[in-house]
Order: sequence, then C-alpha cells, then structure tokens
Amino acid sequence: MLVIDHKEELKATIQGHRTKNRSIGFVPTMGALHEGHLSLVRKALSLNDVVVVSIFINPTQFDNQEDLKKYPQNLQQDIALLQSVSKNILLFTPSKEGIYDGTVVSGSYNFNGLEKVMEGTYRTGHFNGVATIVELLLNAVAPDNAFFGEKDFQQLQIIKKLVETKKLPYRIIGCPIARETNGLARSSRNERLSTPTRKKAGFIYETLTTAKTKFGTESALDIKDWVKNVFEKSPYFKLEYFEIADTDTLTPILKKQRNKTYRAFIAVYAENVRLIDNIALN
Ligand code: PAJ
Repeated sequence: MLVIDHKEELKATIQGHRTKNRSIGFVPTMGALHEGHLSLVRKALSLNDVVVVSIFINPTQFDNQEDLKKYPQNLQQDIALLQSVSKNILLFTPSKEGIYDGTVVSGSYNFNGLEKVMEGTYRTGHFNGVATIVELLLNAVAPDNAFFGEKDFQQLQIIKKLVETKKLPYRIIGCPIARETNGLARSSRNERLSTPTRKKAGFIYETLTTAKTKFGTESALDIKDWVKNVFEKSPYFKLEYFEIADTDTLTPILKKQRNKTYRAFIAVYAENVRLIDNIALN
C-alpha cells in the first residue's frame, strides 16, 4: 500500500489515476482504526476504483488539550488493517504544517445553527476545526465521493452543509454506525475504557433503543426525563446531554410534529472518556 505524506505527491498520484479514468473515494480519519472506519473504507471501495484514507489527528478540533494528548495512535497497526482490506487503498498521512499550509488555525463557519447545538454547545470551536480540516482534505484529494459515519451524525450534517454552501463538487455519503457486540458504538476512544466498563457501556445503546420504543407513545419531554433518571441511578456513566432533535435541522424538540423525522443524540462520560451515540427514532 502506498503511504504518502506530502499533499503535492498525493495530488500527482491521484492525477495519474484520473488519467486512467479511475474514480476516487475518500475516507478521512484520525487513525486508531477500528471496524467502524473499515466499514466506511469497504463502502468506499464498493463505489470507487481507488480509495484514499487519510490519518491525521487534527489539533484544531480538540477543545480539550488532555483529550488531544491522549488520543490513541498506532500507525503500524492501522497500515496492517488497511492492507488486509484491499490493495486499492492509498494512505495519506500529512503533517500539521503540510496540510494547513503553515498556519494551524481554524476558519470560522456558519452552518445555519447546525453547529450551535449538542456537540457545538459542549465542544467550543470543535466544528470550526472539523470544517477547516475537512475542507482542506477534500480539496487536496478532490474525490468523487467522500464517506462519513452516522456515528458523528452532527458532523455528517455539517459536512453536507459545508459542501453545499461552498459549492464543492464532491458527493458526501453517510454510512451506518458500526457497533461492538454489546451495542456500544465503535470508537477509537473505547480503547481508553477499562474492560469491565467497556462491557457495561452497552447500557448507552440499550437506553437509546428503549428511548426509540418509547418514542411511539410518549412525549419527547417525558423521554428526556426518563433518560436523565436512568443515568442519575448509574454509578458508572455520567450523562452530559440527551436530546431528541429534528434529523435535518438538528434543532432539539420537546414536541413531535407529523411528517418530520427525529433522532436521539447522547453524550456520556465513562471513566473520564467522552462517548457519543445516536439513533433514528422514526
Ligand atoms: P474519526 O473519529 O477517526 O472518524 C473518522 C470517520 O469514521 C468519521 O466519518 C466517523 O463518523 C466514522 N466513524 C467512527 N466510528 C464509527 C462507527 N462506529 N461507525 C461508523 N462510522 C464511524 O470523525 C473524525 O475522525 C474527524 O472529525 C475527521 C472527519 C477525520 C476530521 O478530522
């Protein structure tokens, strides 16, 4: 597998594929790859001739420096995993200075309120950092299709908005959430949990699926109260937020309306590790 760390070399290699009429898929990641990332890579390979995977821990999207420092890294294992999936993968591992053209700072974006709720409330500047790096990476790769997980559903909606407002000619494809056997959404951060807590963390998805069942008959407000209560009783997990929000606008709701679709979103701390998840309700 070709591993490239300079943008200009990446562009030249992709240009070579373009002259052979090969389509390009793109999966941006921060590494510590797991089955969630690989499900995106497989989807990308099913729809494109060549898939570029990037691994770059983007400093500007971390509001918490401790979280940045502790972010897991294992490039050799990541390479082995990607190699086991396909030989049509190109791995891009840029340096900070290389991908940011020297100045490692975020731009400032307006996504019509999508960036202000949930993760936007609790992680100041996070989506400016995400949008900045995703715009830089998308323009470096210039893919036909780029793949993002519904695990970070708010991020996915924001990137769709970014591409729409900046009129970028790339198709953004959302992919379903990959889960561990107990239902815990796969995440690089799961590695930081102790084994007993990781086992118990199926509780988060269990709560989401029960909330989904309740959504048929109970009000959003009652479900929110129920979730709060369930977490107050848990000695292992601390609830940061639980919201029921409109799928398109991500505006949290208290009352359902007909002909709209909703999702539940949750952020939880376990052993100081922040975990997020979400589920379609209707
Ligand atoms: P990272 O957390 O490494 O995730 C890379 C991609 O994998 C994202 O699109 C994310 O939604 C997806 N993903 C992670 N866990 C998943 C799971 N369990 N099921 C399905 N998809 C999953 O998200 C980022 O990196 C960064 O913000 C990035 C977009 C790379 C910008 O820095």
